[in-house]
Amino acid sequence: MDNPHYMRRIRSFVLRQGHLSTGQERAIAEFGPKYVIEYTPEPLDLDAAFGRHAPRILEIGFGMGQATAQIAGNAPEQDFLGCEVHTPGVGSLLKLVGEQSLTNIRIVQHDVVDVLEHMIAPASLDGVHVFFPDPWHKKRHNKRRLIQPDFLKLLVSRIKQGGYVHLATDWEDYAIQMLEVLGGESALQNTAEGYAPRPDYRPLTKFEQRGINLGHGVWDLVFKVR
Ligand SMILES: C[S@@+](CC[C@H](N)C(=O)[O-])C[C@H]1O[C@@H](n2cnc3c(N)ncnc32)[C@H](O)[C@@H]1O
Repeated sequence: MDNPHYMRRIRSFVLRQGHLSTGQERAIAEFGPKYVIEYTPEPLDLDAAFGRHAPRILEIGFGMGQATAQIAGNAPEQDFLGCEVHTPGVGSLLKLVGEQSLTNIRIVQHDVVDVLEHMIAPASLDGVHVFFPDPWHKKRHNKRRLIQPDFLKLLVSRIKQGGYVHLATDWEDYAIQMLEVLGGESALQNTAEGYAPRPDYRPLTKFEQRGINLGHGVWDLVFKVR
């Protein structure tokens, strides 16, 4: 019998221990108190968190944070809230924040589903980036993929009218699913016919360049909230 107590949400990640380098550990100690926002199931005051009022972009699953740091460095007039569950990734991004003296990044280390549900107010984001989310390529794992109709509904409800969702993947089967799911959401409008050209602000990663050199594809999707 279904007992809600035992019913757990299927998560889009598996927490790995992961080795923390000395540099990452140091960055967490030095910059964590200023740039990491603790998860609490209460609405977050973004103006207070960033100390100003500015356009707000949420990045989901920033990994080691290279793209995040580069994008934020190139757009000092915007604020970037990064959400990631993996501690070495948080350390890595904080290291970049320190090295590049970035002031427009804040981090929440927690499952983005909870963060969106409880911390982010409706219609408060100007954009959302999800770059190379875990493809969960085995058929039996597909249900772990982040980009699914229910999650997208929640995500879109947090974005302002005219704001955008930008996804990128190098896994064709997931790209097809993304196009289907975003195309099926009536609150969204595609900015392209199908997949979009890579917007200039998204840097090509070394990994991605290597894939492209090998003839592998990368698919960007950019949709606007009506
Ligand atoms: C394949 S990696 C891609 C990292 C990075 N965006 C890049 O392009 O290199 C996906 C990341 O999303 C994170 N992630 C997956 N599900 C998440 C969730 N529900 N909340 C927060 N982060 C999540 C994982 O920990 C992982 O670091």
